[in-house]
Amino acid sequence: MKIQKINMKTSNQKEEIQDLIKSIDELRIPQHIAIIMDGNGRWGMKHGLSRSLGHQQGVVVLKNIIKSAKKLGVEILTVYAFSTENWSRPQDEVTFLINLFEKVLLKEISEINKEGIKINFIGDLAPFPENLKEVIKKSESVTKNNKEFVLNVCTNYGGRQELVRAARQLAQKSVAGKIKPEQIDEKLFESELLTCGSVNPDLLIRTSGERRISNFLLWQLAYSEIYITNVYWPEFNEGEFLKAIIDYQSRNRRFGGIESLPNESLGDSYTI
Ligand code: FPP
Repeated sequence: MKIQKINMKTSNQKEEIQDLIKSIDELRIPQHIAIIMDGNGRWGMKHGLSRSLGHQQGVVVLKNIIKSAKKLGVEILTVYAFSTENWSRPQDEVTFLINLFEKVLLKEISEINKEGIKINFIGDLAPFPENLKEVIKKSESVTKNNKEFVLNVCTNYGGRQELVRAARQLAQKSVAGKIKPEQIDEKLFESELLTCGSVNPDLLIRTSGERRISNFLLWQLAYSEIYITNVYWPEFNEGEFLKAIIDYQSRNRRFGGIESLPNESLGDSYTI
């Protein structure tokens, strides 16, 4: 049995998806969803497979979630594929992941392009092998004018490193006399981030039950709604994705303000 079969939908699941779709408010679809695709290794071990096969199955799930997100009208998906801390994993696993990125891109790039998806890689690509860097560069250039959907893949990405880099660049500009320190505000700082020009995520999904941000998009997630599910990434599916969006739609996003009140009185409805 191929491991992909594990994710095939039964007729009950199809019915469940139809019911979930009915609960979705089409007018409140998150524009940008960020995902920490966690639990691949544990899923592999749970099924008597290797951790690496968990990553492989994770790619199948990612493809399904991209399709589902696009169908729902989500515009941007940002996924955490490899963190700056992931280099500390056993060499075999790191090599497997690097080879997997290259293999997946080579296999899927024409489909990604045909689907009108623009793919961006966010992170420091310098330490990756030349082959992978080439494939990444090509994937980005082939899809750069696509407008249907944006897929950001964070690879060798770390939120703290991104902030330090931005601070350093601003300091260099200041020393060079291009900007004055007092000109540095949120907008200027944001312009030095790797995600510059993109809207911030409305929703962060983390699978496998961990309740951490793990150095992911530290600046960008400031006001994102967070959804955590115990499901491991390789068993995450369209139904779980819809549940995350329905949960998001039940939230009252106030961005630190208060709910607008009809008579502008403060009443009991204040919050941080
Ligand atoms: C976290 O699970 C997952 C990763 C470190 C890798 C995720 C990468 C993919 C799904 C491949 C994406 C490919 C492309 C080309 C975009 P974990 O290994 O930390 O799981 P654990 O917590 O159970 O150990």
